[in-house]
Amino acid sequence: MAFTFFFRDLPVLEYAVERTIALSMGRMRIKVWDAGCALGQEPYTLAILFAERLGATFNNLYLDATDYDSENNFGDVVKLATYKYEELQRIPVDIFKKYFDAQGNDLYQVTDRVRNRVFFQYHNLLSLKPHGSDYALVVCKNVLLHFQYAERIEVIKMYHQSLCPGGYLAMENTQKMPVEIEHLFEQVVPDAQLYRKK
Ligand SMILES: C[S@@+](CC[C@H](N)C(=O)[O-])C[C@H]1O[C@@H](n2cnc3c(N)ncnc32)[C@H](O)[C@@H]1O
Repeated sequence: MAFTFFFRDLPVLEYAVERTIALSMGRMRIKVWDAGCALGQEPYTLAILFAERLGATFNNLYLDATDYDSENNFGDVVKLATYKYEELQRIPVDIFKKYFDAQGNDLYQVTDRVRNRVFFQYHNLLSLKPHGSDYALVVCKNVLLHFQYAERIEVIKMYHQSLCPGGYLAMENTQKMPVEIEHLFEQVVPDAQLYRKK
């Protein structure tokens, strides 16, 4: 089972969302790709952060959440978006009340409004086939560490190809940009692995 949780690494996600909204001003669509989304905790966190900031234009968000899992059940879990209460305790109470509906038996479902903006698909990053194009933000956290160094380089190049001009790539803080492809991105802030496509 993939280790992850709601509202993980919140400051970087919040900052990435704010920069992405600024980049997407005036566009009809805000396209985001969460690569290695596990059971949905990270993409729904992102979608909630967008919902909080976008208000009426939240429906402009298209958040593709992809993962590769051997048991082939991630898609069902992400689409259902129903979680046990114990998994939701890190979420601020006001956000929890606003974005989760009680289902009984200690289970809570992400509201339809948010669920409808997240699109799960199976995708193997090592296929090196971009899942889509023109993304304003790609989030790939705690995934690349599973790959060999040369594979990481190829996967990050794929993200570069998938991003729109000036689009953002967020990785976990221990994941440095390989020197071989440093020229493709600029680091946005010194203390976070948030990069902007050059
Ligand atoms: C530790 S979880 C990270 C979840 C979330 N991104 C986070 O940071 O909390 C790692 C995820 O990477 C996925 N993964 C590993 N190899 C992959 C591959 N080749 N293609 C797509 N996803 C992969 C795993 O299935 C798992 O869900």
